[in-house]
Amino acid sequence: MEWTTSDLRWSRGVIERYREYLPVSSSTPIVSLGEGNTPLIYCPQLSKLVGRGCEVFVKNEGVNPTGSFKDRGMTVAVSKALARGVNAIICASTGNTSASASAYAARAGIACVVILPAGKIALGKLVQAFAYAAKIVAIDGNFDDALRIARELGRSDEFVIVNSINPDRIAGQKTAAFEIVDVLGDAPEFHLLPVGNAGNITAYWTGYREYEAHQRSTRLPAMLGFEAAGAAPIFYNRIVREPETIASAIRIGNPASWKQASAAIAESHGAVDVVTDEQIVAAQTWLARHEGIFVEPASAASIAGLFKCCDSNEAAYSFQKIPKASRIVCTVTGHGLKDPDAITRRIKELKPLAATVNDVRRAIGL
Ligand code: F0G
Repeated sequence: MEWTTSDLRWSRGVIERYREYLPVSSSTPIVSLGEGNTPLIYCPQLSKLVGRGCEVFVKNEGVNPTGSFKDRGMTVAVSKALARGVNAIICASTGNTSASASAYAARAGIACVVILPAGKIALGKLVQAFAYAAKIVAIDGNFDDALRIARELGRSDEFVIVNSINPDRIAGQKTAAFEIVDVLGDAPEFHLLPVGNAGNITAYWTGYREYEAHQRSTRLPAMLGFEAAGAAPIFYNRIVREPETIASAIRIGNPASWKQASAAIAESHGAVDVVTDEQIVAAQTWLARHEGIFVEPASAASIAGLFKCCDSNEAAYSFQKIPKASRIVCTVTGHGLKDPDAITRRIKELKPLAATVNDVRRAIGL
């Protein structure tokens, strides 16, 4: 028998699970790696920090097939590209989109071209693009330059562009909001997430609104988006020509979904705010140590944002007076192993000891 994704109940991916909400038909060939159905993790330490009886959950998108949320959108975009009969997809990327696009293209048996800012991609993500045998082009320029080129090449019939300007990507990514409502029984009061090219916040808002329209939920969350302080065009309301941040995934100065993201924030009565590199790294470290969830720096922007909402007078949205027992969801977008540089530095401090129980005892301070 020829197995399909629908035969394997727990591996069926977001298209089989949410087909009626997605732009596919019974004749669309499904390209899936079993994405989605990621854990929504209750976090007692974060909940205690917020106080007022609030409950904080982390939606861990780092456990998708290529280690980021991009896979949800990529299964739809590549399935639709295949249905159109194209032989190649193209994208610009800060790393995760390229890892995801190259995996789904490999799965579909089509070519994948990725355009990357030279020297600016985290090691794990670049390794993935090589492993999945994408055609990799590094340019002397930033992500915004790469996207300009990908858009132009994507206009020809040879390629389908699979950046989030492709509506199929947004359609797939909205399933993360569906999953949250399906697990909690309703939408949370607040949803926090990192913002780069602004596709994901657009997708979540679309998903929450769609589910509410179908009476699957009774409310809509306030959307709180966090940009890195050195790459914060939406917060400052101007294009940033030379964006800079340790969170390379969101080092973007002119987001493609700027307008849609601003609309989501305004309609949901949410806010956009900034977090510094220092706050991002501190949040990444904190989340791993206190909740056991290891994420890449860009993903930690939502956690850094939560901290800011709790204890800074400068927060664009303060949690000092939020309703008691509010439910708060923070999306963490990518796996920590993708971007190990900051931590691999610490590994060098590890010096081998003599192989005796006493030496080991002394070293661990017992
Ligand atoms: N977090 C991670 C880990 C990302 O890779 C990205 C975007 C974002 C957050 C921001 O999401 O762009 O929808 O606002 N990465 C893209 C890429 C730009 O090329 O991989 P967004």
